Amino acid sequence: MTTNKITELLNIKYPIIQGGMVWVSGAKLAAAVSNAGGLGLIGAGSMKPPLLKEHIMKAQTLTSKPFGINVPLLYEGSLDQINCALDLGVTIFFTSAGSPSKVTKMLKDKGATVIHVTSSPALALKCQDAGVDAVVAEGFEAGGHNGRDELTTMVLIPQVREKISIPLIAAGGFSTGRSIHAALILGADAVQMGTRFLMTKESSAHDNFKQYALKATFQSTKLLMKKTVPVRLLENIFSKEIEEIEASFIKDELKEKIISHLGKSRAKHGMLEGNIEQGELEIGQIISHIKSIPSVEEVMQEIILDFNQSLARSFIKF
Ligand SMILES: Cc1cc2nc3c(=O)[nH]c(=O)nc-3n(C[C@H](O)[C@H](O)[C@H](O)COP(=O)(O)O)c2cc1C
Repeated sequence: MTTNKITELLNIKYPIIQGGMVWVSGAKLAAAVSNAGGLGLIGAGSMKPPLLKEHIMKAQTLTSKPFGINVPLLYEGSLDQINCALDLGVTIFFTSAGSPSKVTKMLKDKGATVIHVTSSPALALKCQDAGVDAVVAEGFEAGGHNGRDELTTMVLIPQVREKISIPLIAAGGFSTGRSIHAALILGADAVQMGTRFLMTKESSAHDNFKQYALKATFQSTKLLMKKTVPVRLLENIFSKEIEEIEASFIKDELKEKIISHLGKSRAKHGMLEGNIEQGELEIGQIISHIKSIPSVEEVMQEIILDFNQSLARSFIKF
């Protein structure tokens, strides 16, 4: 087992990060990933400080390994979430959905490790200029909120690698050891996975959602709401209604109509409470390749085996 820039930066065994996921990645999932040798992240985006505090304290009892929190900066209250985590001794912050310059200096001054999620080579350079320790570059395949540029992971990673000198974490479309091997060949130092970890016993996604997601085919997800808040969703009644709205409203009316149709708590209803018809079900394209709901430990072991087999096979010379 060798180390690299990311395993050293985060003090973890394997270069595998569990992406922060609203409603899905609480203490149980994050601690399980950290215990299995990766880095678990508590998804703070769906938590007010009192709940976030509970999850951080629970994770501290479930693992002695490093774990972090993910904070989407677009939500009101992101600073409160950061302060809550700092007070509890969290030192690893993955920020996303906002400008990295907003909080990076403050966090670095407090001795934290800061990693920002981005979806284009130009934005990755801005992250580096803002002083982050590493960048997550997330391709169009990824689950959850997404960049508008539609850059696939395969196209994005080599271009980000050329732009920045700090460590790089690839995200979007990873679920197997061989795909992680490919990411490292493209220039990444680690991968971040969301969908694969959503589909584990420890994630807090509702079982209705997990069972429904098991039936997904390669046609089952779409990037929707591109003109408002781009997000990749699993097809259901709600996602089809959104598509109809997008097809029938002109630009100026669209935003208002989408926001009113979204209403409140769609993501919570879908992902946490299991309303698979009318809830918002965020998931990545790779769901079509996932046909089981194992434990985190089983996922990690399978990935390591597959990675090593892939490495042993890669002797071809042209
Ligand atoms: C249900 C769900 C919720 C997510 N929520 C967040 C979030 O709160 N913050 C964030 O930075 N990324 C979020 N993401 C993105 C993941 O952290 C990760 O980068 C992405 O899932 C990687 O792509 P993959 O799904 O193909 O593995 C979410 C993804 C999913 C599937």
